[in-house]
Formats: sequence, structure tokens, C-alpha cells
Amino acid sequence: MPWPYRLRCFSCHTEYPTQKTNYRCEKCGSLLEVSFKISRRKIPWKNRGLSVWKYRELLPIDNDRSITTLSEGGTGLHLCPRLGRDIGLKRLYVKNEGENPTGSFKDRGMTVALSKARELGKRRAVCASTGNTAASLAAYSARAGLRCIVIVPQGKVAAGKMLQVMIHGASTFQVNGDFDEAMRTVATLTEKRKEFYLMNSVNPFRLEGQKTLAYEVCDQLERKVPDTLVLPVGNGGNISAIWKGFNEFHALGIVKERPRLIGVQAEGAAPIAKAVKRKQDRIRPVTNPRTIASAIRIGSPVNWPKVLSAIKESDGTAETVSDREILEAQRELASKEGIFVEPASAASIAGLRKSRAAGRIDKTDLVVCVTTGHGLKDPSVADQIPHRESYTLKITQPNWIERLERIL
Ligand code: F0G
Repeated sequence: MPWPYRLRCFSCHTEYPTQKTNYRCEKCGSLLEVSFKISRRKIPWKNRGLSVWKYRELLPIDNDRSITTLSEGGTGLHLCPRLGRDIGLKRLYVKNEGENPTGSFKDRGMTVALSKARELGKRRAVCASTGNTAASLAAYSARAGLRCIVIVPQGKVAAGKMLQVMIHGASTFQVNGDFDEAMRTVATLTEKRKEFYLMNSVNPFRLEGQKTLAYEVCDQLERKVPDTLVLPVGNGGNISAIWKGFNEFHALGIVKERPRLIGVQAEGAAPIAKAVKRKQDRIRPVTNPRTIASAIRIGSPVNWPKVLSAIKESDGTAETVSDREILEAQRELASKEGIFVEPASAASIAGLRKSRAAGRIDKTDLVVCVTTGHGLKDPSVADQIPHRESYTLKITQPNWIERLERIL
């Protein structure tokens, strides 16, 4: 059973029944959030294995029978000494979310959101997506026996993600526009047809699953908190959820500090990073966002109020990175540490390098970089890799072994 929780407006704190399917406050139109009554109590999960559901008491699902799971969370927190040395850091860890069942952090949210959908008696789940949300929703809908509808920007989704959506049997609509238009399409659809349950990150239950990344990092570091946590930002759901997670562990007295957050965006799709750098309290949406990191090609991020407040509260900042920096970081992490992530995830490494070079992070800081999705999802970057170590070997020729020896 979960500890007592409420559903309330992020801005004006108006409360709503937890079984009501609102995505926004009826009074002020702001985002909603789940709020747990946190008082210092005995922690029941100490001896449970690392996973999203380890923290069952802090997940807003009333009935265990509703839980839909594919064993999400429990991802590795990898010490990266070689890359760390290169960037100029003594303690660099990568929290690799590509290790989740469908290869991205979205699974943390979907296990909770699909469980809620079943609890609410929903039959159809829908999302707009740049690919990963769609792949995850398709898998978890199949698992829960729900009809899944995904709306994606036409021709803009990485091949691996489209394959996942199709194999899990989701109905796919490709809109002739970008992600922001896909998002407007689902908003209109779910406003009109209440039987479609909206699974984007305006769904506060999904973010509850995603907050467990923060809990896991605290547990993996044995109740230490990183000085700095770096992660890519698109719609801003993940950074907001993770900040909530650190706040809850802090309020419970499990950890004594909270990390500084650095949100990283691609130069051509950076409405949040620009607002942070200019110290503005609103974002200005970007029309026609551009970047090779298709997962975070978003011009009008819905969760911007939560993100700006999380970065400010954490005394954090934001960074922008170019496509070239992203691809270099992707290759570096893969070749120096054996961790293969998709371009959007590598944006966090690129942003870390830039922040360190600018002196915004100390050499001795304990830094955790979140990599959000697996590299195999987007094979299109193969064209960009210089194949310096690739040779053809004609084994039908008698001297093939000498040739091989000569090269090596
Ligand atoms: N990294 C990856 C690999 C993503 O797929 C996304 C978002 C993000 C980072 C950014 O996370 O939106 O919570 O700030 N992908 C969404 C999708 C938009 O549809 O799959 P965020």
C-alpha cells in the first residue's frame, strides 16, 4: 500500500480527487503533481532489491493487483574513471537508463502510469512522442492489455524506436509536423474523448515512476548525494520528476543534501536553457527546432514551469551543446567506457564537458550524469562514425594472416 498522497496543482495548490483524470488545474490551468504526506517514518524498503517498485510506499497505486511491470529501474551507476580523467573530474558516474526494459528511462514512468490506467479502468492509452515514450507505452500497453495509440512527427522518429512501436502492436499516426504539433494533437484528442488516457509527462502519475531514479542514485551512493547531476532536457518531465525524488528523500531524512541540477539542451532546441541563462521566469518557445538528437527536438516543452523552478531551487544551471559536441560525446562514452547511448543522452556528457571547461563544476565534485536511452535505438548515427579501425580481409587469399599481422 502507498503512504497517503494527494493530487494537487503545482502552482495554486488546489487539490483534486486522486481518482480524477485531470492533467491540468481547473482553476489556473497549471500542471498537476502528486504530493505524498511525508513525515519521518521507519523505512520499509531497506532489504529490497533495487527497482522502481522497491519504493512501493512512495508510488501512488492503491491496489497491488493493478501493477503492470517488466522489471524496470535498478539500472547501473557506473564509475567512469577514464572519461572522468579526460573531462577533469575525480568522481564521475553515469546512471545508464538505457538498461531499462525498452531501453530508456520512460519505463520507470510507464510502469506506474499503466498501473494507474488499469486502476482507473481505462481501455486506451495515447501519447505524442519523439520515439521513446511511444516505444515504452507500446510495450507496457501490450503488457497491460490496453489499446495503444501513438502520435509522432512524420519521418522524424529513429528507426529502432519505430520498430519497437510496431512490434508491440500500437496504432501509429504520423503527423505532418514536428513533436510540438503531435503534442497539440493529443491534447485536443484527450480533451474531446475522455476514454483516451494521456500518457505524456503532463500525466502526474508517470512522473512519480520517474522520480525513483533519484532514490536509486541515493541508495547506490550509500546515502550520499551527488554534488551535481547532469541530464538532457526535452519536455522537462524527467528533470522535474528527479528533483521531486531528491526532495522526498531529503524530507524523509534519508539524505542530508540535494544535488545541483544542470539541464542540457541541443543548441537548436533550447527554450529552457536560454530562459535559464537569461534569468527569465518564462520560456520563449522555439519554432522549427533542430538537432541530430531527435529525442529532444522539442520547441515548446510542457513542463517548463516545473523545470525552471527545479533548476532555481537546486541552485543549478543549464547548458546548450552543438550536434558535433553531442556526436563526439557519444563516441567518447562508448569507446572509453563501453556505454553506448543515443545522441540525446550523450548531450548530458557534452554538457558536462562544457560546464567543467567553463569552471562551473569543481574537479573534486561528485558528478552523476544521466544517460537516458540506449544507443541501438538510433542507428542513423552510424554514417557519422569515422571507421578508422575497419579493414576488409579476403580469407580466400593464402596470405591473409600475414596481412592481418602487418596491420596490427
Ligand atoms: N533523453 C531521451 C532519450 C528522451 O527520449 C527524452 C524525451 C529526453 C531525454 C528528455 O526527457 O522530455 O522528460 O525532458 N523523449 C520524449 C519522447 C519527448 O517522446 O520520447 P524530458
